[in-house]
Amino acid sequence: MSLAIRYHQSTKYAPETIGGHPGLDWDSQPLAWKEYHSDGGVELAHLLPLDPNPFTGKPPQATGAWQGRTLAALSRWIYFTYGVTAVMRNPGRDLLLRAAPSAGGLYPAEMYLAVRDWPGLEPGLYGYDPRRHRLVLLADGGDLHAALTASAYGNAALAAAPVIAAVTGVWQRSRWRYQERAYRRILLDIGHLIGNAGLVAHALGLRLHATAAFCDQRADDALRLEGEHEGVLALLALNLPGPAERPSWTALPSPASDAASAPSLDLLHRASRLPEVRPRLVAQGEVASDALELAHGWASGDRLRGAGCAGPVPLAGDQLGTILRRRSCRRFHPGPISRDALARILAASYLPEQVALGEQPSFDRGSLSTFIAIISVEGVAPGVYYLAPHQLELRPVRPGDPREAARFIALGQDLGGDAGAMIFHTADLQACVRAQGDRTYRYLHLDAGVIGQRMNLAALGEGLGASGIGGFFDDHTADLLGIPRDQAVVYITVLGQPATA
Ligand SMILES: Cc1cc2nc3c(=O)[nH]c(=O)nc-3n(C[C@H](O)[C@H](O)[C@H](O)COP(=O)(O)O)c2cc1C
Repeated sequence: MSLAIRYHQSTKYAPETIGGHPGLDWDSQPLAWKEYHSDGGVELAHLLPLDPNPFTGKPPQATGAWQGRTLAALSRWIYFTYGVTAVMRNPGRDLLLRAAPSAGGLYPAEMYLAVRDWPGLEPGLYGYDPRRHRLVLLADGGDLHAALTASAYGNAALAAAPVIAAVTGVWQRSRWRYQERAYRRILLDIGHLIGNAGLVAHALGLRLHATAAFCDQRADDALRLEGEHEGVLALLALNLPGPAERPSWTALPSPASDAASAPSLDLLHRASRLPEVRPRLVAQGEVASDALELAHGWASGDRLRGAGCAGPVPLAGDQLGTILRRRSCRRFHPGPISRDALARILAASYLPEQVALGEQPSFDRGSLSTFIAIISVEGVAPGVYYLAPHQLELRPVRPGDPREAARFIALGQDLGGDAGAMIFHTADLQACVRAQGDRTYRYLHLDAGVIGQRMNLAALGEGLGASGIGGFFDDHTADLLGIPRDQAVVYITVLGQPATA
């Protein structure tokens, strides 16, 4: 059995085992950011359009042109992707809330920029310091850009990019709380971050290509990472508008290794590495999605896309403002959400280019399937549905009110039971491993996070609340959806009316 499958099985939550956590050791909680001790660096804070500016304490400055290849655009891009957008004062340690959500607020992701040619920046490798919203020079010269491009087998979108961002995961930040299941959440978190990155790039007149197809050893070496603590999980090419560069690929297959011992986060990360020589590209997502389309093709569907869903969604044109005021919903008022709002949120999530959000990044998206539990949506009968994403068509799986089941599978969280709709991303893990090897595990979770972030922000644009749910009873969720327990439930997002008090 492949390591990805073994890992997934051994990190499932079940009612019998959920109470087994040893408790949190607060003294050993890692910092949620890198400490950069250098005083220098490139300050980006004064270029932000915030009033007052929380970093400088001053009113916003005129920055001139801020779209396209300008330092002001880069400042906005990185800030609205993963900058600090709020601070929660705590007696022990302040919690710096970021532009992207993060399971447990642990922020395992780090961002580095390899600059080849960007106004206001010397070529080199920079670390992003979110506490001051500045870039810290780690190494001079354009070699790092070339090294990252080479690690991605010469991916033409990276080669053409004036700036490449490397997104890493620092395992212990999340493992401290979530133990081995942390790998799932780290990848989902980074997916959310990339969801922001793509939407913000489009709003700034830039174009984002994201790839998770690179030789890990070469990418980690380029950044001089300590391999066992931190690893590169995605490379982002920030490009100028124009046709997509070729050849570029977002996902490539790794071997699928046999798991002899109990698989851990580190083992799976290592097993899913890509080699120095580029593996042969496989047709993406074919196996898994075709099978499900067939399985649910018999049911007559309810097309959600109607008059209320034509034209741009409210999020389009207000991507930055929405990210700035974004917070995960903590409590829903159990009232209904409208069918048109749900349709627009799903259109923003699955068909972003059709609702004025531009081409958005994805890895191997066709391998994910979507199910929706309709709990309280005006004009849609409660029940569980399979969603055919291209037509936004709901195909019935089981009728009846899923409210209590939704609460239960979300580990009893009221966010589940009081939601209007609960959206599930699942995958036929065996078919995915056959196609993409163990590395499929990364693609599935990154994609689910990217879509989850568009869902969150589109919901906010509709005046609704949303949250990711990374903790759920895996097998009970599969049972609710009517899929075999050996398929993977990758992620859940809940949408609903935010409680006002
Ligand atoms: C992958 C992922 C899983 C999450 N799971 C849960 C969850 O199970 N329950 C919950 O209340 N919030 C969940 N959240 C929301 C986080 O708690 C929230 O993002 C974090 O506390 C930071 O707050 P903010 O999103 O308001 O900035 C999740 C977020 C992500 C990205």
